[in-house]
Amino acid sequence: MKKLIVGNWKMFTTTAEAELLVERVDAKVLPTHGSEVVFCPPATALENVKAKLNTLKHKQSYSLGIQNIYDQDEGPFTGEISAAQVKDLVNYAIVGHSERRRIFAERDTEIAKKVAACLRHNITPILCVGETLAEREAGHSKRVVVDQLTVDLGYMTAQELENIVIAYEPVWAIGTGNFAKPDDVREMIGVIRGHIEELYGEIHGAHVRVLYGGSVEPENARSYTRIAGCDGLLVGGASINYIKFSEIINLSHR
Ligand code: PGA
Repeated sequence: MKKLIVGNWKMFTTTAEAELLVERVDAKVLPTHGSEVVFCPPATALENVKAKLNTLKHKQSYSLGIQNIYDQDEGPFTGEISAAQVKDLVNYAIVGHSERRRIFAERDTEIAKKVAACLRHNITPILCVGETLAEREAGHSKRVVVDQLTVDLGYMTAQELENIVIAYEPVWAIGTGNFAKPDDVREMIGVIRGHIEELYGEIHGAHVRVLYGGSVEPENARSYTRIAGCDGLLVGGASINYIKFSEIINLSHR
């Protein structure tokens, strides 16, 4: 299976910078890179980046994602964007990112509805789960992730599982430079697959795509993508640096 390399640009880049960034990444990506790349620019730049991607050399390998969506399709929800509104623009949506959970107080019950909203509109949710440092130090990492998954996947059927991506993103590793040890990532990916198996059956546990995210850099990317069962990476900071992001893409194929 192709690796999935997702760039989460967060609230960085103007529209002009966003167009330039994808152009520069494209110029450095090798024809043999072999991965699917998902750019998640700010919502303000989606339309322009989509048009730009269509002009690029490696356009076949690129998709577009939104960083967050609301769980309703329309209504009086000032400032929100729905899956119905972006379904023609994006293939993916990041859901339940730890910054949304922490800064915007998103709860798992809302995240479950967001996952359902994505699936209703044929958008693949990239569902983020992961424990905080305090939870890890207390030995609760597995339980936290299992509990998040149980609620977040609450509206999903087994058939829908192939249309979802799960990103294991330990909160303490995000934006800190304190990346997770590959052995710990292997173990947590095993926990995630094991729980999917329990919820949906063995086949589904093996087939769901699971990524790692948290301080991914060119120097550590391969140590995760070579883990059996790790289907790719969710990259934050390094994804807005075209040299680093293109290197991560080039390094990630098997
Ligand atoms: P980071 O962010 O790569 O900067 O740690 C990852 C993320 O927020 O998804």
